[in-house]
Amino acid sequence: MSSGSFSEATRILYEGHKLKGLAMTPEAFPLFNTTAFTMGDLDDVDKTYSEKGYTYVRTRNPNRTALAEAISFLELGSHSLIFSSGMGGITTTYFSLLNPGDHFICNSYIYGETFDAINQLVRKCSVEVDFVDFTDLELLRSAIKPNTKMLYTEVVSNPTDVIADIEEIAKIACLAGAWLMVDNTFTTPLAVKPLSLGADIVINSLTKFLNGHSDALAGSITVKDYNLFSRIQEIRMLTGTSAEPYTAWTVFKGLQTVHLRVNKQMENAAKLAGALEASPVVLKVNHPSLKSNPQHELAKKIFKDDNHMTGVLSFDMPDDKEKINQFMNRLRLAHYAPTLGGIRTSLSHPVHSSHHHVPEAERKKMGISYGTMRVSCGIEDAEDLTADFMQALEVFK
Ligand SMILES: Cc1ncc(COP(=O)(O)O)c(C=O)c1O
Repeated sequence: MSSGSFSEATRILYEGHKLKGLAMTPEAFPLFNTTAFTMGDLDDVDKTYSEKGYTYVRTRNPNRTALAEAISFLELGSHSLIFSSGMGGITTTYFSLLNPGDHFICNSYIYGETFDAINQLVRKCSVEVDFVDFTDLELLRSAIKPNTKMLYTEVVSNPTDVIADIEEIAKIACLAGAWLMVDNTFTTPLAVKPLSLGADIVINSLTKFLNGHSDALAGSITVKDYNLFSRIQEIRMLTGTSAEPYTAWTVFKGLQTVHLRVNKQMENAAKLAGALEASPVVLKVNHPSLKSNPQHELAKKIFKDDNHMTGVLSFDMPDDKEKINQFMNRLRLAHYAPTLGGIRTSLSHPVHSSHHHVPEAERKKMGISYGTMRVSCGIEDAEDLTADFMQALEVFK
């Protein structure tokens, strides 16, 4: 879509709908459920390949292209690639850009399976790896080596919402001649646009807020630089980590309502975080909107306001399994589901799910205890949601 005068909430309804080479204009973007597109003679084959037209599904598909255009619009990037999962996007990008002998630095506050992928896959490629606390910028600066090739972080960490100062970290990466890759899954491009803060690559697990309906597994990476895009695209073809058309179609449909859903989810999270903090039985609440959060000033610098930060929070209860079970059984709305970003509020226990494989000592450093519960807020009425948590927490009294 060309007009820059409309709001993001308006434009996301139109982005991607008019693809090059698509002569028809159906109101709902159709599913191109085909493994290939037919071609005429060899001249036509040559022409299709040289124009990067639609050939084989693993290479290109209109549903992925439409979704990629919409994500590039939201992330203020020039190119996006759509993957079979968020992990597919993360690992394929590592394989595309890192070589033996390179040095890679990852924030020590990180999603458990990203931590596992780095330890089990990146190290195997003879890449030197360091996990560094990115809240300490001096420490990060001192960790840079002549062979540092990439810095990697989430905007706010899974599950404790520790914020990374993307703008400052991007300056460090730039001085080192390294790429900064940022995971925007928890925050989404509605809250923050890492490419505009200096990041080179942004990854989103589309399985979460951007699809929002808990019915598709997909991921994306977005860049500003065509060379980066084509390097990653080439490896995606070889790893076979492209999303299949139905998934891309599903996520594209979910994305149309992203403003209605995610703004409400972020508001709900801020309200629930405030209510939980006021509860005498809750030991600690992690959400950047809280004035008591040691990074609240940084949060104000990065985000528009308290109600537009992230739809995910976590909080600590006493490490008492029996009481935690009673609390979970008393909740009438929020329910356990090892995912996030859906329209219904869900809980997840990091020790059992997202950080299950992370050694206990590392988990402790990330601020995760047995009593830590992650909450992904849905679009319920905030008053219903908070009242339900408050009545369930009575079990600790
Ligand atoms: C912050 C973050 N990044 C990446 C991923 C991986 O996404 P996916 O499950 O789509 O592979 C997750 C999954 O929970 C996540 O929480």
